[in-house]
Amino acid sequence: MTSPQVELLIVGMEELHTMDPARGEGPTGRILDAAVGFTGGRVSYLGPAATAPEAARRVSAPGTIGLPGLIDCHTHSLYAGDRAAEFRRRLNGEPYTSILESGGGILSTVRATRAASDETLAERLHARLSAMLRQGVTTVEVKTGYALDEEHELRCLRLLREGPWPQRVVPTYLGAHAIPAEFRQDREAYVQLMLQRVLPQAAELAEAVDVYCDRGAFTLEETRRVLEAGMSRGLVGRVHAEQVDYTGAAALAASLGCASADHLERIDAAGIAAMAKAGTIGGMLPTAMLYMRDTAPPARQMIEAGVRLAVATDYNPGSAPCPDLWTAATLSCLLMGLTVEEALLGVTRHAGLALGRPELGWLTVGGPGDLCLMRPPVGAPARAETLVQHMGGHRAAMVVREGRVVVEVVSGW
Ligand code: NIG
Ligand code: FE
Repeated sequence: MTSPQVELLIVGMEELHTMDPARGEGPTGRILDAAVGFTGGRVSYLGPAATAPEAARRVSAPGTIGLPGLIDCHTHSLYAGDRAAEFRRRLNGEPYTSILESGGGILSTVRATRAASDETLAERLHARLSAMLRQGVTTVEVKTGYALDEEHELRCLRLLREGPWPQRVVPTYLGAHAIPAEFRQDREAYVQLMLQRVLPQAAELAEAVDVYCDRGAFTLEETRRVLEAGMSRGLVGRVHAEQVDYTGAAALAASLGCASADHLERIDAAGIAAMAKAGTIGGMLPTAMLYMRDTAPPARQMIEAGVRLAVATDYNPGSAPCPDLWTAATLSCLLMGLTVEEALLGVTRHAGLALGRPELGWLTVGGPGDLCLMRPPVGAPARAETLVQHMGGHRAAMVVREGRVVVEVVSGW
């Protein structure tokens, strides 16, 4: 376990959740009196502080809770414009899908995003990502889907790819987010544009392909064609499934070998069974559910059937304008009935699986050197459960990304 040249060693945390049940206590693999060492961007020591090796820098962090860097595995953070007027319309009872069908909703963000300069888009994304990093989030998945045409979808993917960003960004091509206004009379022409022109180029820039399969968006058959085309080019498959209407997209995702199907408010028993059998991760997006004033997906039934659940913000300007992953974790317990441990696994290890990146979201020697040290809410004990109990706004005391300290809010631990 010991590496000769540990560059950074962290000791003194009140508890460390490795997210590896084989390493410690309970489903989150908790260890007390732990130390984590980093060398060359990776974890090089994980074990008792008493037997930890010498290190170039040794940080003692009493009063903190150690976790692998959190993962927000479903966001739409790259956008311009705002949707406050739509919020009022929806509060007055207008449905999300009819706003979209009348050219608002996602399509209004498309107009604003196309019109924004590269600098504006990059500046706004950078600010959003920095706020997420301060909460301990070291990996953020960001979808396209607010550009839709060839030029702007590829521009967004290049931007996501090139950065530089404060943390690891996983770009997903979501050209199939809505039918753009200019293709309203001929949706097949838009599907052809994606299949023949955009996807072949997007496959070089993105890690995953996603489709919004729903009323007012894409049909099950269109979803199949886009996912097959992307996945045959090596992209990880993801899908927005069973949110507004039941479409059968969760079972389709499972049959195609997609890494995740997200939302799932309307999933049925067959969809659950198919996901469990295929190992498809279920993405829980409780802030979207809350803003849509929807009912909960059958999370307990899914877990009992053997589906592993990720929890994400779905951060976007319309259906989920809340970039706080800790809030999503708390709401997944309150609204969907997850346990504290299930919520913690949902924002770490299971989120890595939802991205098709199984090495992310847990701590192991040789694994990625991403760690966050969280302080508990004022007056609460330094236990991860207090972070889930208290809703949102949590700040990391220290964040390590690929073995380097990228956030440090210390003046005497
Ligand atoms: O995941 N449901 C579709 N897409 C997003 C919403 C995007 C938007 O409203 O701008 C979601 O909730
Ligand atoms: Fe989404």
